[in-house]
Amino acid sequence: MLALLDQTKLPAREDELVCADAEDLVAAIRALSVRGAPLLGVAGGYGVALAAARGHDVAAAADRLASARPTAVNLAAGVRRVEQAYRTAIDGGADASGAAAVSLAEARKLHEEDAEASARMAQLGHGLLGDLVPRAPMRLLTHCNTGMLVSGGKGTAFGVVTEVHAAGELGRLWVDETRPLLQGARLTAYEATREGMPFSVLADGAAGSLFAAGEVDAVLIGADRIAADGSVANKVGSYPLAVLARHHGVPFVVVAPVTTVDLATAHGADIVVEQRPAEEVTHISSPYAPYHPDSQGERDGGIPMAPVGADAYNPAFDVTPPELVTAIVTERGVISPVTSETVAGLCSPSRTR
Ligand code: MRU
Repeated sequence: MLALLDQTKLPAREDELVCADAEDLVAAIRALSVRGAPLLGVAGGYGVALAAARGHDVAAAADRLASARPTAVNLAAGVRRVEQAYRTAIDGGADASGAAAVSLAEARKLHEEDAEASARMAQLGHGLLGDLVPRAPMRLLTHCNTGMLVSGGKGTAFGVVTEVHAAGELGRLWVDETRPLLQGARLTAYEATREGMPFSVLADGAAGSLFAAGEVDAVLIGADRIAADGSVANKVGSYPLAVLARHHGVPFVVVAPVTTVDLATAHGADIVVEQRPAEEVTHISSPYAPYHPDSQGERDGGIPMAPVGADAYNPAFDVTPPELVTAIVTERGVISPVTSETVAGLCSPSRTR
């Protein structure tokens, strides 16, 4: 079995969600009980190992897992990596239980590598902010959720914030609530509380006035997929922040492991953006209503906010063009400017650090 922290219940409850097989994990991924690009890769890898341990059809399980959500490239990458390890073991003469053990070892390796990548990105991102931001303590703005909940370690953008805070250089973390599913208000605020950071949650639409007041020194976000041209897909609402940051002369920094770069996707326009159910927009916090007085942290239909049957536009992600991105921080180093050439250089086999 695979035990996960059910992120749909946070911050009201820290509930464990047990997946008995890969199909349970597919459902958990679709429901966003487990989410965030790096963690999707790690979870997908464990899902393949689970299918192997159960003696199920590993190729079929891998296909289901890899396509559970379309945008974060880490998911399919993690799944295919562990599937490949399983296949190599079988082709090498391993029996089913031997191949299952190999699969689990590969998933664990992926998990550890993600933690190592987090630690390195945190150091590199902290150093970069020292160069980009002339004042301390600094005021950083983030969107969605990018911390320990989505990683084997401290996370991507939030890992950098943690490093800045540990150095005593964090003035305030501005936490975009991140409509419609509130990953910022529910999850980043939960992580910031645990870390003892000074932070404020704001409605997404309040970011503009914060920039105008000169209260933001840098924007730090993660990524779900980085195309070969350097376009960055991340939680919907990231692109407007990049536009605001450019208008106000504020650095816009993306923090992501190299596994988030997808050279097979040439341009930002080629990135498949997941469209989610209308109810997530037309109902408040639906399907997440942990503070609804009657919900006890259970999901319910949410509270309707729009007339019954109202249509909605609900893309889960948007794409920021490379010219609006000041720098991309990876565990292999920082690229700036962000261009096809610098992205290709990052992924070249000769570049290990
Ligand atoms: O729909 P989600 O919650 O899986 O979206 C997650 C994000 O957009 C994160 O910002 C992204 O995965 C970057 S790093 C964790």
